[in-house]
Amino acid sequence: MSGASDVPVIAIDGPSGSGKGTIARRVAHKMGWALLDSGALYRLVALAAQQQGIALDDAGALAQLAARLDVRFGSDALGNEQIWLAEEDVTASIRTEECGAGASAVAALKPVRRALLELQRGFRRAPGLVADGRDMGTHVFKDAGLKVFLTASPRERAKRRHKQLKEKGIDVSLAALSRDIEERDRRDSERSVAPLRPAEDARILDSSGKSIEDVTQTVLDWMSEL
Ligand code: DC
Repeated sequence: MSGASDVPVIAIDGPSGSGKGTIARRVAHKMGWALLDSGALYRLVALAAQQQGIALDDAGALAQLAARLDVRFGSDALGNEQIWLAEEDVTASIRTEECGAGASAVAALKPVRRALLELQRGFRRAPGLVADGRDMGTHVFKDAGLKVFLTASPRERAKRRHKQLKEKGIDVSLAALSRDIEERDRRDSERSVAPLRPAEDARILDSSGKSIEDVTQTVLDWMSEL
């Protein structure tokens, strides 16, 4: 009998704003594969902690929370992503800057990362999985057939985020966003637990100045070379 490890995985890692969420979704859609948005899991832990009054440095309580995370990913009639935490639709509330900062804090805790490991591996289902995150290729799916490390310049990432927020009617200065992004990058790449770095066998893809279609196609081309 074949096990989950026979199911192919594409790992797409990289810093926030590199476009990996969009690219991972497009690649998964084109291939008809499942999608794991691992960042959403860290965001859910931060949100649940906030709701339950758990401090963001209480590693033990946060790990318990992570191990019991009652999450459901789905989509509405238009195909837009929807995420539920128990019975609550948290699609919008996990995307705030505050929740992102909370996610970055809980993601630095080893017990939390350990608690989320099996949950993440459970997303590996036939015919395949596209896994989006920071440590998909280096840790969670070390045996992924294709590992992509998607980057973009900090300036470009700040500009993309600025545009997204503006579309939602949120006005934040570009300079403040650039500072936030650089600060988050530093925290994510300097932390001792699962720091953000490309896997040794990852292919680096810089999306600065490239269209979503071009970047998606590059990943699909690399897939077809396997
Ligand atoms: O990709 P994102 O912005 O939704 O991720 C939120 C936070 O979670 C970010 O600070 C990095 C962290 N994260 C992580 O440490 N490991 C992952 N596999 C995914 C996200």
